[in-house]
Amino acid sequence: MQPPRHVRPPGVSRRLLAVGRAQTRRGEVNDPTTIRRLYGRRSGHKLRGGQEALLERLLPAVSVPEEGAVTSEALFGDSRPLHFEIGFGSGEHLAYRADLLPDHGFIGAEPFLNGVVGALQHVRDRRLANVRLHMGDALDVLERVPDGALTMVYLLHPDPWPKARHAKRRMVNPGPLDLIAAKLRPGGEFRLGTDDPTYCRWSMMVMNGRRDFEWLAESAKDFLTRPGGWPETRYEAKARRKGHEVWYFRYRRV
Ligand SMILES: C[S@@+](CC[C@H](N)C(=O)[O-])C[C@H]1O[C@@H](n2cnc3c(N)ncnc32)[C@H](O)[C@@H]1O
Repeated sequence: MQPPRHVRPPGVSRRLLAVGRAQTRRGEVNDPTTIRRLYGRRSGHKLRGGQEALLERLLPAVSVPEEGAVTSEALFGDSRPLHFEIGFGSGEHLAYRADLLPDHGFIGAEPFLNGVVGALQHVRDRRLANVRLHMGDALDVLERVPDGALTMVYLLHPDPWPKARHAKRRMVNPGPLDLIAAKLRPGGEFRLGTDDPTYCRWSMMVMNGRRDFEWLAESAKDFLTRPGGWPETRYEAKARRKGHEVWYFRYRRV
């Protein structure tokens, strides 16, 4: 159910709305699709020997090829529904979904080295044959996916960039959303989760202004309660321990 377009999402100030409108009017180019710069940590604690070996041996075997169209056939040798996770963190959600749907193909992108190692551990431990990883910017891979090829796209707890002057760095912006919309098949689903109140309000404002996505919420319960098949990530568990609320958004590609 789409909220009426003239309604200001709760907590969204008139100033924030005006910023959004001005960005849209200008055909805002300053967002992650044009900045093409990765902010944030690329690596954390030092890798242990076993982790380095995993990186050396398993990563090449499950990496998205560096060139060419990113299709189900190219990655898995057959035609199957494709899912894409942007910024998978340590890969718990990606691994859970891949385990749940072994006949589907999963592509995950994450620039954080220790996160990639975490995902590789899941791939090894759960013997997942339906996962392909890219260590780097998700947008680089997403744009190589043919239009309409994806069944689901996940963006869970994207970096919030809460300051207004950093808003252009947020994934929820016209450029990345246009790309996601292009790559999803009609009827495909975009899942977005956040524990950041600014990101929540921003996302509602940006998403409510789009005609290519239909919000799959009929009541507040639908975005306040974790939907089935949507496991808690480590990041989310930490957010909950800090007392944060978590919002779950599901949108259908129209
Ligand atoms: C707050 S963490 C959340 C991780 C994970 N989704 C979760 O819920 O546990 C945000 C993640 O997005 C990743 N990220 C940021 N920009 C990205 C990009 N352009 N492509 C892929 N991942 C990105 C960061 O490295 C970080 O791991």
